[in-house]
Amino acid sequence: MRKFVIAGNWKMYKTNAEAEQLTEAIKGKTTSIEKTQIIICPPATALETVSSIVKDCEIAVGAQNMYWESQGAFTGEISSEMIKSTGATYVIIGHSERRQYFYDTDETVNKKTLYALQTNLNPIICIGESLEQREEGITKDILNDQLEGALKSISAEQMIRLIIAYEPIWAIGTGKTATPEQAQDVHAFIRTKLQSLFNAATSNSVILQYGGSVKPTNAYDLLKQNDIDGALVGGACLEAESFSEIIKAAESLS
Ligand code: PGA
Repeated sequence: MRKFVIAGNWKMYKTNAEAEQLTEAIKGKTTSIEKTQIIICPPATALETVSSIVKDCEIAVGAQNMYWESQGAFTGEISSEMIKSTGATYVIIGHSERRQYFYDTDETVNKKTLYALQTNLNPIICIGESLEQREEGITKDILNDQLEGALKSISAEQMIRLIIAYEPIWAIGTGKTATPEQAQDVHAFIRTKLQSLFNAATSNSVILQYGGSVKPTNAYDLLKQNDIDGALVGGACLEAESFSEIIKAAESLS
């Protein structure tokens, strides 16, 4: 049985003081959650603050990006080792905003993923098509290439530590969500692809999250789908109330 995993991607929001407030509020509102894994992904500057607040509970912490070397002359980058030293255990890799504005490619996503795995940080790999690609009818071709690129040289044992987040770019921050049927269709495709790349047991164990305008009002219907095991939440995770409502929707389906 796969468990639900709800991750909040804070993007470039929240100073340390604000991060402390929000984390305390999320912690306070999720004390009854037992079956759903919660992950908070603040900006790198707040990783340690958030980690120290959640260290006595089951909430996990993740970074939003990393570089694939342990150290060196790479101004502005942070390594997996640095992320882990804050107490964080996850890292988002290849978010569409990183691909669009900061030159992440399938190749760099693969390098980052391999290095994260090698250093025991759990990657959340983001994939997704643009509106033009969906309208052209090439969504699955795009996802196929993104998966093959991101997962090159990864073993089946490593694969079960990965989370794949399907985030249609046209649904991110736009208020336009994929319908539960559209999302399920793509998630089923991803699972079948994982089966052909690895094996059935692995593909059945991997957590597949949906992301793109997930809100308390649509979370339940999305999470109810067979192959949707969680959500990567942007906008709605910046308020403890809406983030905890999404987590409760997952918990009610567990
Ligand atoms: P959104 O962002 O929930 O604001 O659409 C999701 C994401 O970018 O991960």
